[in-house]
Amino acid sequence: MQVFDLNIEINSMHDVDLSTVASIERKSYDYPWSENIFRDCLLSGYTCLVAKRNDLLVGYTILSFALNEAHILNFCIDKDHRNLGFGEKLLDFLIAKSRSEGAEKIFLEVRPSNKKAIALYLKKGFEKIAKRPSYYKHAHGREDADIYLLYTSKIGYLDIQY
Ligand SMILES: CC(C)(COP(=O)(O)OP(=O)(O)OC[C@H]1O[C@@H](n2cnc3c(N)ncnc32)[C@H](O)[C@@H]1OP(=O)(O)O)[C@@H](O)C(=O)NCCC(=O)NCCS
Repeated sequence: MQVFDLNIEINSMHDVDLSTVASIERKSYDYPWSENIFRDCLLSGYTCLVAKRNDLLVGYTILSFALNEAHILNFCIDKDHRNLGFGEKLLDFLIAKSRSEGAEKIFLEVRPSNKKAIALYLKKGFEKIAKRPSYYKHAHGREDADIYLLYTSKIGYLDIQY
């Protein structure tokens, strides 16, 4: 667990968090993951983290690790708590955690239309490396995903412990 200057605490996700996580998810995406998908992530041993401010759950992320690679499967801040720096704190944390667990690369997919998320990923040093065709559901069919990659060796000193 780590407490940040924005009064953000980052901890492992537990069953008790699932309904709040799913509710934030529904408000955030047109095609949200169900509560059961998050439960499966916990059961599958994925790294599932929640960010809380004064005990209020404001964001979460799901990561998988394989060999020397981490993959961000979900990353979200509650609508009412955006643009306050929480997304950046959570991303800094997961980058530091991935590196400490031996990940040399971190991958993620993002909709090309998701300008806010892309701005955050670029700010943290991620680079677009490829496209995954027809990856996402879309109102009129499917939408490609852009794949972004960060080499964790590119990141300098991060003052985050866990
Ligand atoms: C993307 C998301 C996580 C950003 O979280 P946030 O807490 O609002 O972000 P922060 O306040 O920490 O902002 C960090 C950076 O993100 C980018 N950003 C955030 N909001 C932005 C906005 N409205 N417009 C443009 N860039 C924005 C900027 O680069 C910002 O850095 P800056 O303040 O120095 O300009 C949040 O918008 C979200 O949860 N969106 C819905 C879920 C989602 O799309 N997840 C990503 C799926 S790949």
